[in-house]
Amino acid sequence: MSNLTETAAGFRISVHAPKRLLYGPGPSQVHPRIYQAMAQPVVGHLDPYFFQISQQVQKGLRTVFGTVNELTLPISATGSGGMETAVSNFIEPGTKLALFVSGFFAERIGEMARRHGAEIVRLEKPWGESFTPEEQVDFIRRERPQVVAFVQAETSTGVFQRSRALCEAAHEVGAIVIADCVTSLGAMPVNIDENGIDVAYSCTQKGLSAPPGLSPVTVSPLALERLKQRKSPNRSWYFDLSLIADYLSESHRYHHTASATLFYALHEALALIDEESLDLRQQRHKIAHDRFVTGIERLGLKMLVAPGQRIWNLNTVLVPEGVNEAKVRAYLLEKHGIEIAGGFGPLAGKIFRIGIMGPLASDDGVDRFLAKFDEAMKETA
Ligand SMILES: Cc1ncc(COP(=O)(O)O)c(C=O)c1O
Repeated sequence: MSNLTETAAGFRISVHAPKRLLYGPGPSQVHPRIYQAMAQPVVGHLDPYFFQISQQVQKGLRTVFGTVNELTLPISATGSGGMETAVSNFIEPGTKLALFVSGFFAERIGEMARRHGAEIVRLEKPWGESFTPEEQVDFIRRERPQVVAFVQAETSTGVFQRSRALCEAAHEVGAIVIADCVTSLGAMPVNIDENGIDVAYSCTQKGLSAPPGLSPVTVSPLALERLKQRKSPNRSWYFDLSLIADYLSESHRYHHTASATLFYALHEALALIDEESLDLRQQRHKIAHDRFVTGIERLGLKMLVAPGQRIWNLNTVLVPEGVNEAKVRAYLLEKHGIEIAGGFGPLAGKIFRIGIMGPLASDDGVDRFLAKFDEAMKETA
């Protein structure tokens, strides 16, 4: 527990959060400049200054998404809210959805789509594997869906899913493509326009290294056409994209009370990326990932995912025989304030999930982690 001071009546009056090193799958380490931005005065959600910030945020998001999509903005919600935005706007009762499933978050898309009345067809693979271009194309040509959804960076397994062939096949049969970029945005090339992705959503607490609370979303002109052709109104009022776009980009009429503080945080995160350049930032994550994998193999450990299919900023390491992963995680947190995560579902107890992102994606950030990780495994053996 952190040190919380209390009133005489036992009421906690002050928060002294412990300083952690966030090496988990997210939230990732927040850059100090982002904390400074968050200490700025709150302005109203209809203040002209808020809309200036919002406009710059939209511009910065187009760069990190790799898109010219006009409709690119942050939803006031975590990554799951972005997922629900994508699902609720582009699926209505009877919509045929082709879903690629090989991990936890693809299942979540399926669950949301089911609640919105989709007719779902699934292509499944064991957790930790990715779909080949041939498998993607065969499935889509066979099923001829209206919407295709996949997870670009599956945080439950560490797999990065390539999607150029998937998007081409989807467009060939008249479908639009939804991509979950929650873990990849800001750390890996998501390349929305180059890949042909129509709708993508992300979060702020992973590759962008800001606190959780906003979910960047981007929508292609083709998907916007689909939105206009809906037969029924979106069953979700809060995530109705036309209402949100009207508030943030068009009339500036009240829709909800957006958090100026979270917009400042995202603005600063995007400014940091702009200063470093997106290319160099992505390269830095790749270099840190390669150094991490070399170090892990030097310790005699193995990665779950095959080379070439791995997420750079979220590594999944197989728990060796005889090691209790829960004990290792508890040791790291208690002794060194380091957070990492374990696996879940079929991978529970079998993997460590280790994020090397944002300010921690450096030689020093990797070496410091590996030294403590090695120590934790020896001390808990
Ligand atoms: C791939 C993926 N999709 C969706 C989510 C949901 O995001 P959130 O927890 O921010 O709601 C996560 C969270 O880790 C994720 O990793």
